Amino acid sequence: MTRLNWGMIGGGEGSQIGPAHRISAGLDGHFHLTAAALDIDPERGKSFAKQLGVAEDRAYGNWQEMLDGEKSRPDRLDLVTIATPNATHYEISRAFLEAGFHVLCEKPLTMTADEAEHIVAIAKEAGKICAVNYGYSGYPLVRQMKAMVTNGDLGNIRLIKAEFAHGFHADAEEADNPRVRWRYDPAQAGTSAVFADAGIHAFHMACFVAGQSPSKLSADFASLVGDRQLEDDAMINIRMDGGALCRLWTSAVAVGRMHGLTLQVFGEKGGLSWQQQHPDQLYWTPLNGRTQVLERGDATLSEQAVRASRIAIGHAEGLPVAFANIYHDLSEVLKASNAGNAPSPLALDYPTAVDGLWSMKAIEAAAKSAKSGGAWVTV
Ligand SMILES: NC(=O)c1ccc[n+]([C@@H]2O[C@H](COP(=O)([O-])OP(=O)(O)OC[C@H]3O[C@@H](n4cnc5c(N)ncnc54)[C@H](O)[C@@H]3O)[C@@H](O)[C@H]2O)c1
Repeated sequence: MTRLNWGMIGGGEGSQIGPAHRISAGLDGHFHLTAAALDIDPERGKSFAKQLGVAEDRAYGNWQEMLDGEKSRPDRLDLVTIATPNATHYEISRAFLEAGFHVLCEKPLTMTADEAEHIVAIAKEAGKICAVNYGYSGYPLVRQMKAMVTNGDLGNIRLIKAEFAHGFHADAEEADNPRVRWRYDPAQAGTSAVFADAGIHAFHMACFVAGQSPSKLSADFASLVGDRQLEDDAMINIRMDGGALCRLWTSAVAVGRMHGLTLQVFGEKGGLSWQQQHPDQLYWTPLNGRTQVLERGDATLSEQAVRASRIAIGHAEGLPVAFANIYHDLSEVLKASNAGNAPSPLALDYPTAVDGLWSMKAIEAAAKSAKSGGAWVTV
């Protein structure tokens, strides 16, 4: 199997999301970590890259050195993942896209909708992929939900209930913890805290599964702990362009909730319910019928869900496999493009910069609505 050359920026030793990317990119053997600038500390980044098997001359101290070192090589990187803190995403994505690299950027794509619009335009102009890691859309049963909606099993979608509510910022004593403080500081986090950080995954999944985009929304933001300047809880009502109503709750103060990402979709012919903490079961209730449990790994599920499963039915998969499906899609598209072929339509479900742009528009609209007492704002 031809392995693609893969570069990584950020995601250094001890980072939260770096290991998930390395496990996911490596899972199917499609990508090989070839070049890296992993850390804000140049020496630590180089040393960790070498420990991971990156050659000395491709273990860089920062992303600018990596760009200079990589852009003229004949054995070019096929994909560059950006897993640095949010405020750096725009500058780094832009530089690599302009230099002709395909990019997978962590969410949020940028800090503003204007910047996201710019990235969409640059990627289009350069003819390069800019994917965004809304990785939960890679879960096999989330893809099953999308396939069932697309297939018309639910009929018209009336209502979506999306949640990403956890309880890990509920302790007022933690106000000065640096890992918590920046998230509620507008100078570092932008116009929204918990919606931009967590709820935006639920928002993306609602759009992905329903195949609809937001038209307008009304948001109620609350800061329930101490004197936080940004919200730690939000309830958002979204009218979708395909006629569905989406009710989205996101929170960081819901003590006892762990990851707390759930999605329910209710149509005129039935309803679906999925929880990320139990990702291998999907509950399907046809109108006037009995609730059925669809198990991941069942060969009679949609071809999208079967393609996205790795481990036999009854054995737990999880987040790295969901992220691996994003990498799997990208590898198929990149290999097809390198060979001058069209990719399989099944490989085209990965989230793109356009999804990143919708997210930034939704965040800005929600912050504006919340400031004006929940007024409806066009997205
Ligand atoms: N998709 C998801 O589910 C998900 C989950 C968690 C985090 N994230 C996103 O991933 C990104 C990173 O989050 P995290 O929690 O891993 O952060 P983190 O603080 O745990 O790690 C950040 C890493 O980036 C490195 N870094 C910082 N600035 C850098 C620079 N200029 N150049 C190179 N490396 C640099 C740091 O040294 C560190 O290794 C954020 O944008 C976050 O929103 C996404």
